[in-house]
Amino acid sequence: MKLMIINGPNLNLLGKREPEVYGSTTFETYFETLQQKFPQAELEYFQSNIEGELIGKIQEVGFSFDGIILNAAAYTHTSVGIGDAVKAITTPVVEVHISNTHKREEYRHVSYISPGAKGVILGFGLQSYDLAIQSFLG
Ligand code: DQA
Repeated sequence: MKLMIINGPNLNLLGKREPEVYGSTTFETYFETLQQKFPQAELEYFQSNIEGELIGKIQEVGFSFDGIILNAAAYTHTSVGIGDAVKAITTPVVEVHISNTHKREEYRHVSYISPGAKGVILGFGLQSYDLAIQSFLG
C-alpha cells in the first residue's frame, strides 16, 4: 500500500510554530514514528510552501499511489487549484488538519479540498495523520 503524505505551507515549522496549537514535535520525528507503526504501508512524505509544487506532487502520484493524505494548511481555505487537482486524480485523498479548524477563525471553516476528498480528519493533533493512514489500511 503506497501512501503519500503531502503537507502545505508553514508545516515545515512544526515543532516551533505556535506549539500551543500545533504541538512541539517536528514532522520529521513524527514521520519516523509513523513508519515504525505502519511497516505494512510504504509511506512517503513531501512538504512545500509553494502552491504549484503541491499541485505538481498531487498530479505526479495521483494516478499510481493507493492514497494521499493531504494537509494543504492555509491553502485549504484559498486554493481552487489544489481543490481542482484533488478532483482531477484517481488516487483517493484524505484531508487532514492538526487543529480543529471549525473551532478557529471563520476563514478556516471553508475548505476547497473537502468536496474532492474521500474523507476529512481534523482536530486530533498529529494523530490526525495516524487516523488517516488507518483509514486506508482498513
Ligand atoms: C492546519 C489548519 C490551517 O487553517 C492552517 O492554516 C495550517 C494548519 C492544521 O493542520 O490544523 O497551517 O491545516
